[in-house]
Amino acid sequence: MSKSTSPNNYRLINARLAVVVSSETEHRSIANGFVDIANGVISGVGEMSTLSQYNDEISCQTIDCKGRLMTPGLIDCHTHLVYGGARQNEFEQRLTGLSYEAIARSGGGIKSTVAATRKTSVDVLAQRAAERLDCLLAEGVTTVEIKSGYGLDTETELKMLSAARKIEKMRAIDVKTSFLGAHALPDEYAGRSDEYIDHVCNDMLPAVAAQGLADAVDGFCEGIAFSCDQIERVFKAAVLHGLPVKLHAEQLSNLGGAALAARYGAMSVDHIEYLDQEGVDAIAASGTVATVLPGAFYYLNESQKPPIQALRDAGVPIAVATDHNPGSSPLLSLLATMNMVCVLFGLTPQEALLSVTVNAAKALRLEDRGVIAVGNKADLVIWQAEAEVDLVYSLGKNPCHTVFKNGQIVLTKGEN
Ligand code: NIG
Ligand code: FE
Repeated sequence: MSKSTSPNNYRLINARLAVVVSSETEHRSIANGFVDIANGVISGVGEMSTLSQYNDEISCQTIDCKGRLMTPGLIDCHTHLVYGGARQNEFEQRLTGLSYEAIARSGGGIKSTVAATRKTSVDVLAQRAAERLDCLLAEGVTTVEIKSGYGLDTETELKMLSAARKIEKMRAIDVKTSFLGAHALPDEYAGRSDEYIDHVCNDMLPAVAAQGLADAVDGFCEGIAFSCDQIERVFKAAVLHGLPVKLHAEQLSNLGGAALAARYGAMSVDHIEYLDQEGVDAIAASGTVATVLPGAFYYLNESQKPPIQALRDAGVPIAVATDHNPGSSPLLSLLATMNMVCVLFGLTPQEALLSVTVNAAKALRLEDRGVIAVGNKADLVIWQAEAEVDLVYSLGKNPCHTVFKNGQIVLTKGEN
């Protein structure tokens, strides 16, 4: 037991540990293990049977996990959590048979959220996004990525990214931001998409970079959005400003966006239902993560599935995210998303857990989390569950028991 108690340090004992580092690419579980937390980071991990050798001078509070599962804090690596308004009307329209593309081409879709977002203040945007985020936090999410892309003018893109940054001060969460100016063509540039891309590259992106508001640059490469040539210009501007890139690619058709993103060393390519073998080979060679988004697939009632087996065969890390947005994926549960990726795309429950921990961390290039390992941030979740499969088995059940963010308890249900 501890010599004296420090509120900042913990020893968590008798836990089933999932996603423990064992080598660069292999992760294992420990059936009965412990984790030490000191000063916000993981300072010890191992089998309970080896505990005595670590037990000496540590000053900490001991928590008995009583055999519960412990995982790294979950990471939602692709969201559009900041926006004004909502689009329930389009949900109803799609139920009558109208397609996402048809709604977008008739002035709805992303553009209708742009109109609402332009009218909403930064404080209200941040407040609404924090309320949505609460659903994710309740399920053990400790890091989230948030994109802009509903401003499509400099002022509103900056406003969205500022709102995303603000959320970090409002909740116990790390926020990584992506500038998504190339999301859709705003009405004021109708018929002048190349000029809009000039504006993104020459005005918007430099302003965003100058204020340090983006950690990455994203785009939407699709028939209803931008061509590969246009996206490449955005990527070149990103490189000039020292920002890494990622891309919404091959969601509704195959334009070769993933291979383009791979040439620019993209962090991730996202959606990728229509990714072909050439695209798989390209991202495998560039070390790009494949982020699949079953929420959008589900809500749009799609049938084309991402090439999961080809990605596995090529050794591409697969991440999974909610893609929360008001149109194609108003989904606010990462656990439900994990269930969907198993049922709809055929990942195993173990793969689903890796996809929201170690692989999601890779998609955001965060090397200090996503795995239970000494030196990593002590972002950890204790679950009212015995095994990984319990996280995805019952849709609608939230077995989250206790969440540690930077080594501090930020949520707990009940006694130890
Ligand atoms: O990731 N695919 C493009 N962008 C979003 C949808 C945005 C919207 O419909 O508002 C997505 O699914
Ligand atoms: Fe998206």
